[in-house]
Order: sequence, then structure tokens, then C-alpha cells
Amino acid sequence: MCGIVAYVGSSDRTKSVLCESLGRLEYRGYDSSGICFVENGRSRVIRSEGKLENLFTKLKDCEVTSSLGIAHTRWATHGDPSERNAHPQVSGPISVVHNGIVENYPELKKELIAAGYEFRSDTDTEVISHLIRDFTEKGNSLLESTRKTFEKIEGSYAVAVMSDKEPGKIIATRRFSPLIIARSGSECFLASDIPAILPYTREFIFLEDNDFVVLDENGVSITDAAGGDVRRDPTVVDWDPSVTEKSGYRHYMLKEIFEQPSAIFDTLRGKFTADMRKVVFEDLDPSLLRNTQRIIIAACGTSYHASLIGKYMIEEVAGVNTQVELASEFRHRNPVVGPDTLFIAVSQSGETADTSEALLKAKELGMNSIGITNVVLSKISRESDCVIATKAGPEIGVASTKSFTTQVMAFYLLSVYLAISRKAVDSKRARQLIADAISVSKLQQEALGLDEHLRELSRDFYGYRNFIYLGRGINYPVALEGALKLKEVSYIHAEGYAAGEMKHGPIALIDRNMPVVFIAPEEDVYYKKLLGNFQEVKARGGRIIFITSDRELRLPDERDRKIVIPKSSYLVSPMVSVIPVQFMAYHVANILGTDVDQPRNLAKVVTVE
Ligand code: AGP
Repeated sequence: MCGIVAYVGSSDRTKSVLCESLGRLEYRGYDSSGICFVENGRSRVIRSEGKLENLFTKLKDCEVTSSLGIAHTRWATHGDPSERNAHPQVSGPISVVHNGIVENYPELKKELIAAGYEFRSDTDTEVISHLIRDFTEKGNSLLESTRKTFEKIEGSYAVAVMSDKEPGKIIATRRFSPLIIARSGSECFLASDIPAILPYTREFIFLEDNDFVVLDENGVSITDAAGGDVRRDPTVVDWDPSVTEKSGYRHYMLKEIFEQPSAIFDTLRGKFTADMRKVVFEDLDPSLLRNTQRIIIAACGTSYHASLIGKYMIEEVAGVNTQVELASEFRHRNPVVGPDTLFIAVSQSGETADTSEALLKAKELGMNSIGITNVVLSKISRESDCVIATKAGPEIGVASTKSFTTQVMAFYLLSVYLAISRKAVDSKRARQLIADAISVSKLQQEALGLDEHLRELSRDFYGYRNFIYLGRGINYPVALEGALKLKEVSYIHAEGYAAGEMKHGPIALIDRNMPVVFIAPEEDVYYKKLLGNFQEVKARGGRIIFITSDRELRLPDERDRKIVIPKSSYLVSPMVSVIPVQFMAYHVANILGTDVDQPRNLAKVVTVE
């Protein structure tokens, strides 16, 4: 949540680099924004409430001669989204942009008020600017003052700091919030995330907790909390910069739905032996899995739904007892685990606070861990014993789409890997399972042809205020995901249920005004039962959208709609059946005119509890 960027380089690029980078970070938060340059030895801070375009309008005619600057896009935690709560937060000569939360800010604020500081915002961040100023006024350098300040701060942070008194430099540090730096020629960049600065370089240094960085015309230097020199090697990231562009699509969400076949293809690349008999995980230590008798998976949101599918896959294919936990619950309870329990943390961003805390809890409990993440060197990938990387590429739309299907594919591969290594399947079955994985890209490509059909269907359904999504077995989590997608981007109330649960309560909701979306591929082992659930809904006057691969099925009521998806094998079917529900959420939202890529109140990366 919140995105920060900083730049040191050439004065004729400062404004454009900061604005463009901020634009590529807007998915992290978008309720207010701000920027700071140093002009003639004085800070110039410009802030704006609302979307970035409001800031850009203010900056339009503003000539910038500064060769460095910091900028911020905000997702409010403390204080409403307003100009005075936007960052940079300023105290005298000090300007600070911050991503994270200062947990002990009430105590610090009290101390600072007693010392005579006046607070002009409701943010927790303002204590950081006052503290740094306080230390500089006591004769410390900006770097030293920043160090001393963060000795007092509890919580999570990635910050960049500028001062009128040391106008040629930017100081940055982090703890529990991501921060990367990069150099290209005589330019230095700093950002919360890779996509922000991807057009300028492919080599990034991922900062560690308590690294303190100075960016100035000499380049970048890193020291630790005690002032000792730190060396961090750059990592080369092979993302193509065009992946951060909309490439002709109206929204990132639509572009990312369409990118799923290639994301799956990339996730599969290099994952099989040449004879196509085995799954290969180069980074996975086989000893980690050898003694595993039980698996606990923790994740949030869409990643949680992918994990629920993972449970079906692992139990069905490899026969290993698996349980899935909401990371926000797992981190606060006392689970019973044994030495043979493996923990899997699943997160697109690799930075979600609840999931990374759940991982830390698992480690405290002595569990071995695997991280399934989409971002190299993210917190979860660094803290897990082994990593399975999904290769979705940057996902900019706040609503996850391609990260869901690549996570499901990662679980599929893991279940086949486990099954083969435990001899739970014979070689014929193993080859079939691998062939089914390879078939997914093509099947998805076919399902993408449903775009126009779903656009037209959405025109018929966008007026309803409630929806129910139903599925069974491996497609039950797809029902949950379909409901989440619709809620997130269209603000329509939707609930996903296991179809068998209907009769235990939710069926009371069914009437003419409650459309029910069935996720019912014919290959689903519960298909006949789903047809029974269909009749139950019909008997109560419900209107149905039936997503199925059963071409022959006739729906007698013309108010109902059938969406035909390509037939696949049961275990890979969620990677295909989810495409229509993604399209439907997208098109309904578009008709309703919501902000599809940046829905209200949400942020792409949730780094707060
Ligand atoms: C999905 O559309 C959401 N935006 C959200 O539920 C997301 O999946 C969740 O916050 C977890 O994020 P992560 O995968 O980066 O950990």
C-alpha cells in the first residue's frame, strides 16, 4: 500500500521520471499523491487529493530545475484522503514520503507536541518528519538523523527523505516494506516496486531491513543501522517493460485476463524433464518434501482461493493431507503442527503483511516452508526455505486474474511433483497429468473467445444488486473467486458457496431478483449433483448463468444463459472455468462505470494488518 519513488539524475528528467514512475505505482494506492523537488536550495512540495491526474494537472505548467526529487501515491491508513494528509509530510526543511505504519506514533506524537512541534496532518508519518528535523537541529547529519529516528520508530516502513539543508541527496531506509534501488548511467532510482522503474533498467538492488541508503550525484551507498558499509548485489529481472503498459487494452484487468495463456506457458517453462515424465523444480530442496505428512497453506484473497484449489489437487493427486488457512487468522492462533508439517505461503506480491507474518509464525513453530510468489526477492520469497515462482509478469490491475491461474498451475505442478516422488501415480498417469498441464494455455486461449459473449451477457445482468456463485469440488473455489471479482470491481454484492451448502441456508435468498452463476464444467466429478442444484434454484424462480463444457445441455427457461467453455481434464478445469467469471466482473464493472483497475478502497499490495 502506498508507493514511493525517488530520482537523482538530470534536471530535465526529474519531473518526467517521477511522474511516470508514480503512474506505474498507482495501483499501490490512489487516494492522494505528492512530490517534492529542491529548487534553489529550498524544498518545493506539491500535493493533491484524489487520483494522480490531479497532481499531474497541478504540475503541468510547473518548470522543474531540480536534479532530484521524491514522490508518493497514497492508500490512507491514518487520516482521511486529503491534501494535508498526502505525502510528502513536511517539518521545516525535512520532507518525507512513507509506505507503512508507525505503530507507536501516539506516544511519539505526544513527546513531540510537548517539545513544541505543531502537527498539521492526521498521519502517523508526520512524526517521522518532526523527529528527523529534531535530530538535525541537534547537529546530526540527515543520514544520522534518519538513523536515530528509526531507532525510535516501531512498525513497518519504506521511506525516502529530503532536506533543504543537504539539498543534493536523498536518504532512504526500510523495515518490513519493500524498497528497491537501481542505477543506470549517472541516474539513480528508488521505488517500492519493480514496475515503477522497469523502463529505465533491468538491474535492481533489493534493500534489506535496516539498510540506509544515500542517493546523490555520486551514485548510491548503503550502510547498516550501525553505519557499517553494506554491499548488495544487483539482481537482473527479465520482465519486458511493455508488460507495464496497457498495450491498446482499455484496462490492465482486461489485458491481464488475455495474458493468461502466455503466463501459464511461462510458468510451465523448464518445469518438465526432457522425456516429459517428471516435474522439475530447480529451486526446491527434495528433502523438504520427503518427510512431509501434512501441508498447511496460508494466503489472503484471491491467493487464498487458489490455495483452496491447491488443497484439492495435492490431496487428490499426491494423497498428502492438506489444510488451507486464511493468513490473517493463522498468524494469530496456535496451530498444532508436527515436525512433518510443511508450510506454504502463497502471495502474488510476496509482500502481503498477513501472509508474511503467517510465514514467520510457521518458522517459529519449526515448520519448513515454500513460498509461491510472483515477485522475485519479495519478502515471502526471501523468507521461505524454497520458492516456486509464478511467471505471471507484473500484475497491475488491482483485481488479480493472471496471478490466480498461475498460482493454481504452481499447485498443480507441485501436486504432480509430490505424486511422482512418492510413487503415488504410475508413469502412465504421470505422463497424462503433465500432458493436461500443457493443454491449459490452449484451452484458455479458446475460452478467451468468450469475451464478446460475456460483454453482451453483462448488459443483461448488470442491473441486479446481488449474485450467488455456486460450484462444487475443485470448482467451488472458482465460485468464491467469481464472487470476489464481481464485488471488487463492480461493487455488487456477491457470495460464493459450495453448491451442496445451498439447502442449508442460502437457498432462502433465491427469487427472481437473485441471479445464480453455476461453475459447472461437465468433467466436474460432481456435474450430476450440480444439475440437481440447478433444478433447486429453478424451482424457486432464480435466474441462472450456467458455465459449463456440456454443449448438449438445454436450458428450458429462456431467461437463463449458458456459457460454453472448452472441455478439459477435471484437475485443470479451474484454470479455464474462471475466465468467464473474470470477464463477467470486468464487463459489468465497465457498464456501471466503476474504476476497474483501481476500485475504491482497495490497494494492490496490502502491507498492513
Ligand atoms: C484480488 O483480486 C485482490 N486484489 C486481493 O484479494 C489479493 O489477492 C490479496 O490481497 C492477496 O494479495 P497477494 O496475493 O499479493 O498476497
